[in-house]
Amino acid sequence: MITLIANLKGGSGKSTVVFNLGLWLQMKGQPVVAYDLDPQQTLIDVAEVRREEGYAPPLQVYPPRDTLQEDLKYHPKNVQVLVDVGAANLDAMKVAIKSSDQIIIPVPPSQPDVWATQRFLDIVDDATNGNAPKLRAFVNRADTHRQVRESDDTEEVIKQLPGINLIPNRLFQRTVFRRSLSEGMAVFEMSKRSKATEEFNLFAEYIFPELGQ
Ligand SMILES: Nc1ncnc2c1ncn2[C@@H]1O[C@H](COP(=O)(O)OP(=O)(O)OP(=O)(O)O)[C@@H](O)[C@H]1O
Ligand SMILES: [Mg+2]
Repeated sequence: MITLIANLKGGSGKSTVVFNLGLWLQMKGQPVVAYDLDPQQTLIDVAEVRREEGYAPPLQVYPPRDTLQEDLKYHPKNVQVLVDVGAANLDAMKVAIKSSDQIIIPVPPSQPDVWATQRFLDIVDDATNGNAPKLRAFVNRADTHRQVRESDDTEEVIKQLPGINLIPNRLFQRTVFRRSLSEGMAVFEMSKRSKATEEFNLFAEYIFPELGQ
């Protein structure tokens, strides 16, 4: 199964989600490999931090090669292939879109992020001639204050977008997600009981219901 975590806009949480989801899938006994198509190589760096710290299991992360299409298809069907894709490498993004089974789109609750998501859907449509894979979006970095309405508004827009489904489990703006990248640990490894862990588990189980409790 090839899952892209993608959006056009920087900072939407792609690398954070790939890193945590990769470790969550391994915790559930799934074989996982990840690809970091971003020249910034955040995912490669955080996987390296994890290796240096000696945390188990490591996350295997590959950079893109010219043979990306063959590389992605090379893995047996039971391997969970996660791909971190941003706008910095549009050619690789299009190859990955064409190869994927599903695309998960993190959308921070802001108008520019909503616009970028709409543009991203155009790219998906173009790359796949209208035969897009399963597309799902969710609000990441949602505000924890109940009075702030932006996350509700963003979800409403997502629901209206053609060909895309809303993942109803938001990930909120929580400091542990930042620590996750700097320390090379998943949020659920840092604390079994935090709100971030609870939210992330629900989010991951929604995407991979067959691996839920
Ligand atoms: N739910 C969250 N709560 C708090 N911080 C978050 C959350 N999601 C992501 N972040 C933080 O926001 C920053 C950007 O996240 P990340 O690097 O994962 O985004 P990205 O989409 O991969 O960015 P880029 O386009 O630059 O590759 C990081 O510092 C990350 O720790
Ligand atoms: Mg990134």
